[in-house]
Amino acid sequence: MLDIKVINISQPEVVNMRGLVSIDVFEAIRTRKSIREYSPKSVPKKLLLKFAEVAQLAPSASNIQPWHFIFVTDRDKRKQLSKSKYAGFLAKSPVVVVGCGDQKASPSWYRVDVTIALEHIVLAAESKGLGTCWVGSFEEDEVKQLLKIPEDYRVVALLALGYPLEKPEGKPGHSIHMRKKLDQIISYEEFGTLSG
Ligand SMILES: Cc1cc2nc3c(=O)[nH]c(=O)nc-3n(C[C@H](O)[C@H](O)[C@H](O)COP(=O)(O)O)c2cc1C
Repeated sequence: MLDIKVINISQPEVVNMRGLVSIDVFEAIRTRKSIREYSPKSVPKKLLLKFAEVAQLAPSASNIQPWHFIFVTDRDKRKQLSKSKYAGFLAKSPVVVVGCGDQKASPSWYRVDVTIALEHIVLAAESKGLGTCWVGSFEEDEVKQLLKIPEDYRVVALLALGYPLEKPEGKPGHSIHMRKKLDQIISYEEFGTLSG
């Protein structure tokens, strides 16, 4: 059996090329968890633009960039978006990012491309001390109507975004401890082989 150890390769805080202090990407991945309780404090527009930029920089198949991101802060709209079964917290998350994909422009890859870009936002938000939660619980037709999303675009996923009220380590059974073991999810050379 392969001995898979977690190697600590991260420095919790780094000074990046522009002299800004942020947590590095490994630390952001490690500390991130879904946040479903938010402070009412609004997220500055400047920061939202930063998150838009990291989405813009995501890779996409053939560089088609078949995406559009709607930053929803309006209370009534968020309330509408929160009506689905597992989306109640969207009413109280200061921002909801709606990730849309142009199905016509990239029929095979729009979902993957939009997903990568949204995850860029998730990790950038984490590195700046904000919380997020992916939301797949929505009625697409209703979201499209509410936000006037054009016909060719599909709604891929929503993200709650804001300053967390929950403490990341606060919950018993925190998700970091609820992951499958590495030897259950990887193989070397062919599926199911761990030695070699
Ligand atoms: C595509 C996707 C859809 C999700 N949809 C919802 C959702 O509708 N409501 C919700 O509360 N959490 C949702 N989640 C969050 C997951 O429940 C969460 O990521 C998972 O339990 C692992 O917990 P963690 O994010 O804290 O590590 C979704 C996550 C993903 C990736």
